[in-house]
Amino acid sequence: MVGNSSPKKVGLAADRLASFYGRDIVSVDQFSRQDLGYIYGVADEMRSLVKRVGATDLLKGHVLANLFYEPSTRTSSSFIAAMVRLGGSVIPIHGVQYSSVSKGESLPDTIRTLQCYSDVIVLRHPEIGASAVAARYANIPVISAGDGTGEHPTQGLLDIYTIYSELGTVDGLHVAMVGDLKNGRTVHSLARLLKLYDTEMSFVAPDNLRLPQDIRDEMVAAGRTVHETDRLQDVIDRADVVYVTRVQRERFQDLSEYEAVKDYYVITPALMQEAKPRMALMHPLPRVGEIQYDVDDDPRAAYFRQMENGMYVRMALLAAVLGKV
Ligand code: NCD
Repeated sequence: MVGNSSPKKVGLAADRLASFYGRDIVSVDQFSRQDLGYIYGVADEMRSLVKRVGATDLLKGHVLANLFYEPSTRTSSSFIAAMVRLGGSVIPIHGVQYSSVSKGESLPDTIRTLQCYSDVIVLRHPEIGASAVAARYANIPVISAGDGTGEHPTQGLLDIYTIYSELGTVDGLHVAMVGDLKNGRTVHSLARLLKLYDTEMSFVAPDNLRLPQDIRDEMVAAGRTVHETDRLQDVIDRADVVYVTRVQRERFQDLSEYEAVKDYYVITPALMQEAKPRMALMHPLPRVGEIQYDVDDDPRAAYFRQMENGMYVRMALLAAVLGKV
């Protein structure tokens, strides 16, 4: 079931609940600020629940099919941890080479199979739009865990949640996104969500890795102030959030092009001295050299807290699409 099409189950009393119950999560465009506020409230509760007692039986008897056609550490394991901490179980399909995908089974048939055994499907796939395709065939909710160079909606949600928890607000902030803005799907989802807030945005990338024009146009049409530069020095002292990304090696046809840009930006302790005393340095991870390890002890380095937040937000999303919160 795609985006805002009819939910699988309707007639719920609470508006917010009705807006998640039985729905797919395939693009951040489906969310309003109210939706985010609702999910973040639940994520806060999940955080305190995990800290207090570790787990609950809210999703007891429910099954998640975790279907990954691309590598993942954080996204896949945080979805598994989220489901298990909610009392549910997981069918992990992380090496699709060991599934019938390697026999040539199509995505729709794989989805039709998994929906017989599970209540919700999480899908990571190398093609843009694959989650929307899966959602069309599934009669249970499909949650995108990233589709190619398209979107990574749950990462975008946890990134905004992290900005709130680090800085207390999103409105009024200057957010700089740095690195591979062309291929980085987390940037695409985060930028689209930031349209909902009164933010100024700087996109810092070498010329061949600039943000896709359509996303830039969306920002401007939403009334946001947008700057583009290839020099991090232009914005480092003004940004409240610096969101660094890895150059996405696997998206390059010509590896010599990758080699030419892979070390374009490196966050060092010296560079952090130029940044605001109160700011958040974020990264969806994995990093491959763009933030030096000796930056990790800087209190502004938020990336490890950011990945922890991922589990709370995913707990909230799983409980919401299954109609339990
Ligand atoms: C990102 C992804 O897979 O898009 N990782 C993640 O989910 N945290 C970022 C990346 O791979 O660079």
